[in-house]
Amino acid sequence: MDKIRIVGGNPLNGVIPISGAKNAALPLMISSLLCDDTLTLENVPRLRDVALLTQILSNHGLDYSVDGKRAGQDTMTGQTIHLNASNIVDTTAPYELVSKMRASFWVIGPLLARMHNARVSLPGGCAIGTRPVDFFIDGLKALGAEIDMDRGYVKAEAKGGLKGGRVVFPKVSVGATHTVMMAATLAKGESVIENAAREPEVTDLANCLIGMGAKIEGAGTDTIHIQGVDRLGAHRHPVIPDRIETGTYAMAVAMTGGEVTLEGARGDLLESALDILRQTGTEITETNMGLKIRRNGAGINPVDISTEPFPGFPTDLQAQFMALMTRSKGVSKITENIFENRFMHVQELARLGAKITMDGQVASIEGVETLRGAQVMATDLRASVSLVIAGLAAEGETTVSRVYHLDRGFERLEDKLSRCGAVIERISA
Ligand code: UD1
Repeated sequence: MDKIRIVGGNPLNGVIPISGAKNAALPLMISSLLCDDTLTLENVPRLRDVALLTQILSNHGLDYSVDGKRAGQDTMTGQTIHLNASNIVDTTAPYELVSKMRASFWVIGPLLARMHNARVSLPGGCAIGTRPVDFFIDGLKALGAEIDMDRGYVKAEAKGGLKGGRVVFPKVSVGATHTVMMAATLAKGESVIENAAREPEVTDLANCLIGMGAKIEGAGTDTIHIQGVDRLGAHRHPVIPDRIETGTYAMAVAMTGGEVTLEGARGDLLESALDILRQTGTEITETNMGLKIRRNGAGINPVDISTEPFPGFPTDLQAQFMALMTRSKGVSKITENIFENRFMHVQELARLGAKITMDGQVASIEGVETLRGAQVMATDLRASVSLVIAGLAAEGETTVSRVYHLDRGFERLEDKLSRCGAVIERISA
C-alpha cells in the first residue's frame, strides 16, 4: 500500500488550484439516472470516489465518456464527463459496489423516481459513526414508496410512480436531502422538504436539476419546494469548487506559514471556517484569482469551534482544524456535533506530540511549541489529510500509511503541495 512521506518545516508559498467539489460531483453524477438524455458535467475532479461511482452507475446501464485533454490545457484542469442513462438495465445496486462508498446509496432516489423500483445494498463508506439510512427511508415513504428490508438490501417500490409529499427531516442530512430532492423531481404533484440541508452542494445539485427541467424553489434554505415534471432533459453544468479542499489548504498555510493563492476558491462557500481562521491570526483576502491565505511570523491564536450543518463550521474540516490547534499558543476546544465517532485522528496526532484530551464529543487541545515527525496511519478521508498538514509543520520526517483514503477525496495532493515548497512524496509499495 502506498505511503506519503513528508519532511516538515517548510513554509508554503505559491498557487494551489482548487478542484471541483467531490461532494457536489457525486450527487450530480447520480442525478444523470433521472434523465434519458445526456448530462455533461464540467470541472469534475479526478478522484477514486468519482471513478468508483462511474463504475457503479455503469452497472445500472449508464454510458459515459470523458473529454480528452486539449493541447495547451493545464493538467490541473478538471475533466468534462458526459453521462447518458437512456437505457437503465438494472435497478439493483449490489453490496460489492455500495459498500465501498456510502454516497452510492443515493441512487435509490433517482432509480425509484424513474424506474419505480430500486434494490440498493445498505452502504459502507468512512468509518466515522453509525450513519443509518432511516431519513432516506422515511423520506421516500412520504413520496409514496413501499420499502422493505431484505437481507442487507433496501427494496423500494412505487407502483404507478412516486407522488408529491411532505418530508420533515428530524435532523439535517445532506445525503437524504439530495436523495429526496432528486426523487421528487419526477413525482406527481408538489413535494416539500423541511429541515433540508443548506449545504452549497445541495444548491449546486438543485441548480443542475433546474437546468435539466426540474421545478425546484428554495434550495439553499431549510425548506425546498419541488413541483414534479414528466421528464428531465440534456444539460451542461460546471461543478462548484471544493470548499473542503479550500479550507484544508488554508489551514495548511495557517500552520506552516507562508503565502498561497487558492486559485478558483470561493470564499462565500465557507465563510464560517474563514472567520475562524482569521481569528487564529491568518490573513485571508479575496482576489480576482481566488483566495489569498497568508500567515507570517505571529503565533497561532487558540479558537474554540463546534461543527454544525451549513452555514456553520463543517465537520469535514474538524480534523484539519484540530491539527492547526495543536500548534496554537493556548488551549482550544473542539465539539463534534455531526458524527459521533469522528475523532480517530486524535491518537495519530498524539504520535506527533500533540496534547489532546477527550471528553465525549469535546476535544481539548493544548498547543505545543513543536510537533515531531512520526509514523502515522490514515483512518478516514478528512482525518488523513489532517495528518498530512500536521506533518508539514512537524520537525523531521512523517510517513502517513493507508493513503488510499486521501485518494478518495484529494486530487494530486502531493503535487499541489510540493509546487508550493513542501517536501512531500508518495512512496509506492
Ligand atoms: C455528507 C458528506 C460528508 C459530510 C456530511 C456532513 C458527501 C458525499 N458526504 O455525508 O462529507 O461529512 O455530509 O456534512 O456529500 N443520519 C441519520 N439517518 C440518516 C441519514 C443521516 O441519522 O438516514 C445522521 C448521520 O448519522 C449524521 C447526520 O445525520 O449524524 C448527518 O449526516 P449526513 O448529512 O447525512 O451525511 P452524509 O450525507 O452521509
